[in-house]
Amino acid sequence: MALVDIWPVLGIGVRTPTVELFVPDQEALERLARLAAEGIYDPQNQYLPRTPVGGWEDVASPEAERRFLRYYWAAFADWRPEKWNLMLAARVGRDIIGVQEIGAQHFAVTKTASTGSWVGRQFQGAGYGKAMREAVLHLAFDGLRAERADTAAWITNHASLGVSRAMGYQDNGTTTRAAEGKRVDQVNLTLRCSDWRRPSEACIITGLSPGATEMLGLPWTPANRHADQV
Ligand SMILES: CC(C)(COP(=O)(O)OP(=O)(O)OC[C@H]1O[C@@H](n2cnc3c(N)ncnc32)[C@H](O)[C@@H]1OP(=O)(O)O)[C@@H](O)C(=O)NCCC(=O)NCCS
Repeated sequence: MALVDIWPVLGIGVRTPTVELFVPDQEALERLARLAAEGIYDPQNQYLPRTPVGGWEDVASPEAERRFLRYYWAAFADWRPEKWNLMLAARVGRDIIGVQEIGAQHFAVTKTASTGSWVGRQFQGAGYGKAMREAVLHLAFDGLRAERADTAAWITNHASLGVSRAMGYQDNGTTTRAAEGKRVDQVNLTLRCSDWRRPSEACIITGLSPGATEMLGLPWTPANRHADQV
């Protein structure tokens, strides 16, 4: 029995002509850890509080890589059908460029998925953040049949807000938080499936096997999904 047969969500992926999202193997994970440790925030961008995504941003190598890996492995170790977070590596050509996450709690009931992402600094500003979000929204809406996708960003994170707005998300209020000892507003954003613009480019989802849908807490499997729509 292969690992993916035991832990089937490891086989989930999405491929578009621009980007591929996949659960990294050992070699890709090593590259991702190095990319994370090189830093994901522009040090010149003083007005942007760093979101401590995984707590590795302010420490030196190899502790940074180790913290990234701890965060990554914890997501799979803590996996439950009622609360999960799928961490996908993003690949463009031969480059591993970042991480796209999609998570949910009680998805069968809420039909709501949340996303988060980062792109390695040398790959930022080239449209990959948008390509990754487009791919993961395809997984959420077409693959998992979510009714709603949520995300959030600091009010000063123009790149992240730019990605969400380009996808058609609507503002859904703000939450005031403390970041690095300062008061900062977080913008909450929501995209309803009914407002989702299906990508014009082909998106191919892989790995939504019956075992994977069971681990995601979905009420359907690919074999019965049309039956349960009736
Ligand atoms: C946020 C992030 C994932 C966006 O990915 P990206 O590849 O850099 O963004 P894209 O090139 O796809 O650009 C997305 C949109 O934001 C705009 N944008 C990008 N960088 C910007 C910046 N620094 N200031 C203002 N707008 C910006 C782009 O013009 C584009 O909008 P458009 O379609 O209207 O032109 C990436 O910048 C990143 O990893 N940042 C650090 C980590 C982070 O902030 N993660 C998100 C936490 S909420």
